Amino acid sequence: MKTILVTGGLGFIGSETTIELIKNGYDPIVVDNLYNAKRSVLDRIEEITGKKPAFYEIDACDEEALEKVFEEHRIDATIHFAGYKAVAESTRKPLEYYQNNLGSALAVLKVMKRHDSHGFIFSSSATVYGVPEHLPLVETDPVGSATNPYGETKIMIERILEDAAKADSSLQVILLRYFNPIGAHPSGLLGEDPNGIPNNLMPYVTQVAIGKLDHLNVNGDDYPTPDGTGVRDYIHVVDLAKGHVAALKRLETLKGLDIYNLGTGKGTSVLEVVHAFEKATGVKIPYVIAPRRPGDVAANYADASKAERELHWKATLTVEDACRDAYNFQKKNPNGII
Ligand code: WQD
Repeated sequence: MKTILVTGGLGFIGSETTIELIKNGYDPIVVDNLYNAKRSVLDRIEEITGKKPAFYEIDACDEEALEKVFEEHRIDATIHFAGYKAVAESTRKPLEYYQNNLGSALAVLKVMKRHDSHGFIFSSSATVYGVPEHLPLVETDPVGSATNPYGETKIMIERILEDAAKADSSLQVILLRYFNPIGAHPSGLLGEDPNGIPNNLMPYVTQVAIGKLDHLNVNGDDYPTPDGTGVRDYIHVVDLAKGHVAALKRLETLKGLDIYNLGTGKGTSVLEVVHAFEKATGVKIPYVIAPRRPGDVAANYADASKAERELHWKATLTVEDACRDAYNFQKKNPNGII
């Protein structure tokens, strides 16, 4: 397996994975419609790796355009990142989310089938577990119901892939359930670049740190957690990207479909993130305690032991590492990637 199609390959996780693929001798073919990514990410990937990957500015829902990519390259496997991902927006625009996220996954799978390309790695999410019945979350735990359309698209695509793998024994599918990806490339060239006021914790904190935002609102301090604030499993995006390379190796011997949590196995509270950030950067983060955010669970973290056993992959970077890298990226790109 050498030539890898990466849909959404210029996004936050996709770009980092493209870098890891190049570093590990793969030949990534990047597809991105630039809806939520900048073309200049390609130059930054080249600056980091010394190689500019093949790039197609196309929509992953566009079967005809994908056909052309598969005609021009013998694609050994696909890593499918492309999709809409903003939780709050998905509640306002459910139809767009279902259409785009399901449509792109279906289009890629159909074109793969026509070209006898069998390997598919899907960017799924811990959100598919819904409200956890116990922690840590294990891959065999029931898939719950998500509290928003974005999460529902992940559940539905997982189901589609299960049915597709049952129907076609040549299909090899890995569902990667990400926990909370944070951090940035240590060079400061690539990182998370949200539009508008960030919804997620780490980009919000980094914008407070550079003075773009005044203070952090901590969403609730009355959860049944050690300090009362929400607990999540924060994974450095570089570790996460390496998890995809490990999954590609696993595809070589895989029959059918398998599922892996990609997390650290460790929960960290909002206030612990704030303190880790202050320690890593020396910058104080003013915060106020605000009401709970609707739809949030108290705590959520992975049992990541299956990935360690079977993918021989394990997160090695800490929340402090991620804070340092995210801050470095934010300082170097105060207005995001241009
Ligand atoms: C983390 C913690 C907040 C912002 C979401 C999606 C999930 C996945 C990753 C990917 C929570 C608290 C946050 C703030 C805060 N999606 N918080 N103040 O909600 O665990 O996961 O992102 O594409 O599907 O649901 O991540 O970073 O938003 O929140 O106190 O300003 O930080 O309440 O406890 P979440 P998050």
